Amino acid sequence: EKGGYEHFMLKEIHEQPKAIIDTYRGRMLADQGIIKMAGVDDHLEKFLNADRIIIVACGTSWHAGLVAEYLFEDIARIPVEVEYASEFRYRNPIITDKDIVIAISQSGETADTLAAIKLAKSKGAFVFGVCNVVGSSIARETHAGAYTHAGPEIGVASTKAFTTQITVLSLIALKLGKAKGKISNSLFHSHLQTLQLIPKKIEELLAIDDQVKHIASVYKNATNCLYLGRGFNFPVALEGALKLKEISYIHAEGYPAAEMKHGPIALIDENMPIIVIATSKGHYEKVVSNIQEIKSRSGKIIAIVTQGDTTVKEIADHTIEIPETEEAFTPLLTTIPLQLLSYHIAVFLGRNVDQPRNLAKSVTVE
Ligand code: M6R
Repeated sequence: EKGGYEHFMLKEIHEQPKAIIDTYRGRMLADQGIIKMAGVDDHLEKFLNADRIIIVACGTSWHAGLVAEYLFEDIARIPVEVEYASEFRYRNPIITDKDIVIAISQSGETADTLAAIKLAKSKGAFVFGVCNVVGSSIARETHAGAYTHAGPEIGVASTKAFTTQITVLSLIALKLGKAKGKISNSLFHSHLQTLQLIPKKIEELLAIDDQVKHIASVYKNATNCLYLGRGFNFPVALEGALKLKEISYIHAEGYPAAEMKHGPIALIDENMPIIVIATSKGHYEKVVSNIQEIKSRSGKIIAIVTQGDTTVKEIADHTIEIPETEEAFTPLLTTIPLQLLSYHIAVFLGRNVDQPRNLAKSVTVE
């Protein structure tokens, strides 16, 4: 059932190219320049007239929501707020019938997310679900939605659910950007072509597993790790840190790279591994200067860079290259080595990778 892999998590990491293709299937017709999504098409007026989109989710799904904030605002120019479902529901939030609430949940059973949806509905908002499990409570409770079609995710650490959530949300952002006239036809077409190449690029990345495993062997005894990213890759830094904590039990934090000097820089010494996402178009120069600041304080740097990078390579202790793509879609690639890094560290430490202590696959109590 693990398809020859030692753990479900590793199997699910490797399933991502196929899972993303399944997410596109029947929806993205790249050569014709069409995105078909019944859940959006049937309610297009609502989406086009919405004052803002509020995304509610927990954990990894919340991180996918943060990536979506960057995508929706950049591509479709719709204001977005991303909320932890647990905070949103108890805050007496301001919701109107001009709001669209998007609930993101792999399991479709997360108690806080379900309660947040019910609250939003009671205030008149239109609620759209992005779920993986077909027929789940959240899928049933929402007015419309789009399934991620990632297939069953068994490992408690979410992997393919995250990348397929980002895929669905990218399609929605592009669809709305086009319908609202916020993105040119040529950019729309080129984005579809770019998205279509992502699964192949993930395949390429999965082939560097041995390199990531080597890096994991070097840092497996670390007690703390910092993950830094900017822009589209800030949420990936959060996700990388969550993945490491939950399966290896090593304390990790994700931060927007520029926030480092507002506190976390005090933690840096020769024992601190810092994973920095430094893709070529993502505020590259600014991230490079963050990397220099880390180096001058003797921190150990593992950098995720774009193929062909030379500057970061000279400073970092390790570099992992990702294939070139549009900056907006880099989270689909930069996430992969971070998943593998956590996986290998957890295996080296003898952790129960698929069922980490104290955690459940779906959190059905608040
Ligand atoms: O099923 P959901 O997407 O609603 O679950 C939300 C979180 O419980 C989940 O993403 C959790 O953070 C994962 N274990 C992270 O890997």
